[in-house]
Amino acid sequence: MCGIIGYTGDSTALDVLLTGLSSLEYRGYDSAGVAVSDTTLSVHKCEGELSALKAVLPDGSVRGHTGIGHTRWSTHGPPSNVNAHPHTDCDGQIAVVHNGIIENYQALRHDLKARGHTFDGETDTEIVPHLIEEFLAEGADQETAFRQAIDRLKGSYAIAAVFTASETVYAARHESPLVLGIGEDGHYLASDVPAFIEYTNQVIYLNDGEFATITPDGVTVTDSAGIVVDAPVETILWSPEDAGKSGYNHYMLKEINEQPRALRQCLRGRVNELLRIVQVDEVINLETPNAVQFVACGTSYHAALYGAQFFRECGVMAQTFLASEYTAATVPMGEGTLVIGVTQSGETADTMRALREASAAGATTLAMTNVVGSSAARECDHAMYIRAGPEISVAATKTFGSQQVAAVLLATALIGVADQSLLAALRGLPDHVQTVLDSSRARDVAEAYLDADSYFFIGRGYNMPVALEAALKTKEITYKHAEGFAAGELKHGPLALVTEDTPVFALLTAGVNFEKTLSNVREVEARGGPVIAVTDSPKEVKGYADHVLEVPETHSTVAPIVANVQLQLVSYWIANRLGRPIDKPRNLAKSVTVE
Ligand code: F6R
Repeated sequence: MCGIIGYTGDSTALDVLLTGLSSLEYRGYDSAGVAVSDTTLSVHKCEGELSALKAVLPDGSVRGHTGIGHTRWSTHGPPSNVNAHPHTDCDGQIAVVHNGIIENYQALRHDLKARGHTFDGETDTEIVPHLIEEFLAEGADQETAFRQAIDRLKGSYAIAAVFTASETVYAARHESPLVLGIGEDGHYLASDVPAFIEYTNQVIYLNDGEFATITPDGVTVTDSAGIVVDAPVETILWSPEDAGKSGYNHYMLKEINEQPRALRQCLRGRVNELLRIVQVDEVINLETPNAVQFVACGTSYHAALYGAQFFRECGVMAQTFLASEYTAATVPMGEGTLVIGVTQSGETADTMRALREASAAGATTLAMTNVVGSSAARECDHAMYIRAGPEISVAATKTFGSQQVAAVLLATALIGVADQSLLAALRGLPDHVQTVLDSSRARDVAEAYLDADSYFFIGRGYNMPVALEAALKTKEITYKHAEGFAAGELKHGPLALVTEDTPVFALLTAGVNFEKTLSNVREVEARGGPVIAVTDSPKEVKGYADHVLEVPETHSTVAPIVANVQLQLVSYWIANRLGRPIDKPRNLAKSVTVE
């Protein structure tokens, strides 16, 4: 889990690398570093965020046109200056950046040490420049030495290397994302497209086992045997503004506000108003499954809980598993089981492993993801894109609603029967979310409960995953304790914790669960707990709620997606008032590519 960038071309490499790294910090921010090739190799790195690196860079003296950069989320060795990438060989002639985990690094390091190599830090990556150095010393040219070193590695990597006085960047990929950019003024590589979208929208996604040689004149992709691969160039349709903050103080707030557009994109072309059916082109050849198993983590897991409930309502046996638990015990699967990995990034290691195991067990797999060309999209039998656009804030927001909608669309398309009132509600969803964004009183509610030590969220049915999600969001960005419960479970234990200092947010949208949830609210009220109702029925909750966050009336399946937006805003405003680093909460990273 880290972000890497590489550049070679006409521009000053340092500028391109720093711009790219600022877009990649969501992947980790324990340390940052760059290496720029000129007559010598200029390596600068330090613990902390990119701003710390910028503060120690020498003024104007790093002028080369070829370089690599890195922003780190620690896996081997704590955050420190020596563990920061790039890593170099003994003579400082080769620099390497890496995202992933080299599983056999200890054995390689032991052997290298025995042959006289010395190491400064504890990372797995540090062995790579030393391996390259040895192959160079044996007479190999740069490219061959790079390939020979990579051949020795076991594990996962997106890796890039530069050499002193060279205009070439070498790269390789295995189970960690890597994309190349074809620009007019140079060529790029990065862990993710936003790192260079400002310069080019022409990209090549590298596949596992492929190598790339990047020079100012072009990009060559080769397979593991060194044979040139005819890699397709794809056009990215995001604008650079799509990947910037567009005037908001935080990406999270920007992304919360982008939800109407994200939802419209998710629905576009999929709800056929004329035929009154749902058609998802990506799964047109997929047969109706006998059973569905969802695997996912974190926010995506909550969306999967919602999705499985909808499949069940459509009459398909559906279960949801935490991806990290799915592999802990074999899950029986019958013929015709579809395993759906819900993953924003498409790179989450736990989800990838679950999908791979499901595939090995004979299941058909489908990636429900936001990232075209991600590992999940490429490895699964099918991929359905949620089309939310880039999500930079570590806390997922806009992708959650899009995942929920995608699950409803998928189930409806696969089963072939569309509830017309539901389709109408889906079409109206972007406007309903916009209404909440325009009128929300979440900021006042956040202010009223700023001092609480603990926040509870309760909901039933489709509102239950939203309660879990609201608690996760609150924990993640406010650093305060928060729990989400199935509303009916409160009386089975957690009610003991409710006091006048425990605000309880109740999801009370109209539907079969409304009355029962209202009874649970009364249980809270009787214990003196403040109640904040998120509801489309303000009259009915009057007298039970201390505060009301209103949402427009809509179909009961869709209402929780709208209600969630109120709770995203509450957590945002609490975190904002507490001065938390909202887009980059401590100890977390956007894309979790380790198990
Ligand atoms: C929380 C959050 C995480 C992710 C989880 C899975 O705000 O973003 O819980 O949902 O790490 O990530 P993806 O969806 O990329 O597989």
